[in-house]
Amino acid sequence: MKKRLALLTMAALLGVSAAACGSAGDTSASGDSGSSTTQESSSSDSGSSVANKDKPLVWFNRQPSNSSTGELDMSALSFNDNTYYVGFDANQGAELQGTMVKEYIEKNIDTIDRNGDGTIGYVLAIGDIGHNDSIARTRGVRKALGTGVEKDGSINSDPVGTNTDGSASAVQDGTLEVNGKKYVVRELASQEMKNSAGATWDAATAGNAIGTWSSSFGKEIDVVVSNNDGMGMSMFNAWSKDNKVPTFGYDANNDAVAAIAEGYGGTISQHADVQAYLTLRVLRNALDGVDIDTGIGTPDDAGNVLTDDVYTYNEEQRSYYALNVAVTADNYKDFTDSTKVYEPVSNQLDESKHASKKVWLNIYNAADNFLSATYQPLLQNYDDLLNLDVEYIGGDGQTESNITNRLGNPGQYDAFAINMVKTDNAASYTALLSQ
Ligand code: BGC
Repeated sequence: MKKRLALLTMAALLGVSAAACGSAGDTSASGDSGSSTTQESSSSDSGSSVANKDKPLVWFNRQPSNSSTGELDMSALSFNDNTYYVGFDANQGAELQGTMVKEYIEKNIDTIDRNGDGTIGYVLAIGDIGHNDSIARTRGVRKALGTGVEKDGSINSDPVGTNTDGSASAVQDGTLEVNGKKYVVRELASQEMKNSAGATWDAATAGNAIGTWSSSFGKEIDVVVSNNDGMGMSMFNAWSKDNKVPTFGYDANNDAVAAIAEGYGGTISQHADVQAYLTLRVLRNALDGVDIDTGIGTPDDAGNVLTDDVYTYNEEQRSYYALNVAVTADNYKDFTDSTKVYEPVSNQLDESKHASKKVWLNIYNAADNFLSATYQPLLQNYDDLLNLDVEYIGGDGQTESNITNRLGNPGQYDAFAINMVKTDNAASYTALLSQ
């Protein structure tokens, strides 16, 4: 199937973002600054007579929500009858991540406290202080290690900066008792990994941070934890691998899974193979006018079906959530290819019954390790199986208008899949579709 790949190189992206005058949250989409991009546009309309506002729409990976309170943006999630969100269960995954780190410490208690001071010190890389997944992971780790403090009814997820003396108010020292011996657990430092241009979950920033932290209190760092593998691997390669300090991430990206053989502590698979399928599947079903559960909880005509141990659907939130699995030294060999389609949903749809349709899809940041190295390759595998002709747009991770500028002609597409830069910005897209 013909596929239009419109991902830009990072250099080109930076050029475009510098030219774009809109800021994040800007609802205008003049399309002018996008003219310098390499996006290929098709000359004809999708041929559909459906109004843009009524076309199927799926939000994925970044759930429309208030970035301060986490409250879901239900007007975006129910923009029309064929609107859904696809992500994964952030709280279940966060608990798993925290438990995985705690169990590793318990199992390796004889060697973990590198300077033998009775305090197990860890540092934490935070992805995006306003992203629900990032907040959940910070909370999950603090909860499991006993370092969390409550704020407004839940665990405080604020970064602490440096806390080598244990005086920070956003965390507390935890205690862990193993084999009758008590240890203090301290969050020595944590920081949002945002670069100077504003891109969050920034791996390079995390690599620099571990450099700074290790040069001033490296001997106290016994464990490195990260909200994702992109940042985790950057810290592992910069410091922890050589210093044999277990490092934990999230996403089960290929490089991180491979690094488990070299001492990376572990990661969490958020079942991206199921999420990428669901992202395109809900669009396919809406375009076919069939029950939304087709090929999901109910087998389709090609035999594709998911079982409820890999996803849940919350009807009220119009959201599909994949379930997470911990990936450690015990099972990592089962996870070495994160871009492989999930076998139970790997059957090709018959094109005579499911005609090819055009989909506009964006990735918020072409440089995000998880989305570019795991999620997009999966989408590209499923788009063929589902007969969807997807145009992939890569953003710069900083400005919404860099992406919305490239949705200048929604009439050319049958359906839309959106990964916002900021979870608050759904209206920048729905405004374009409502025009
Ligand atoms: C992933 C991160 C990614 C972020 C982007 C999260 O679900 O785990 O790796 O950077 O989404 O939105």
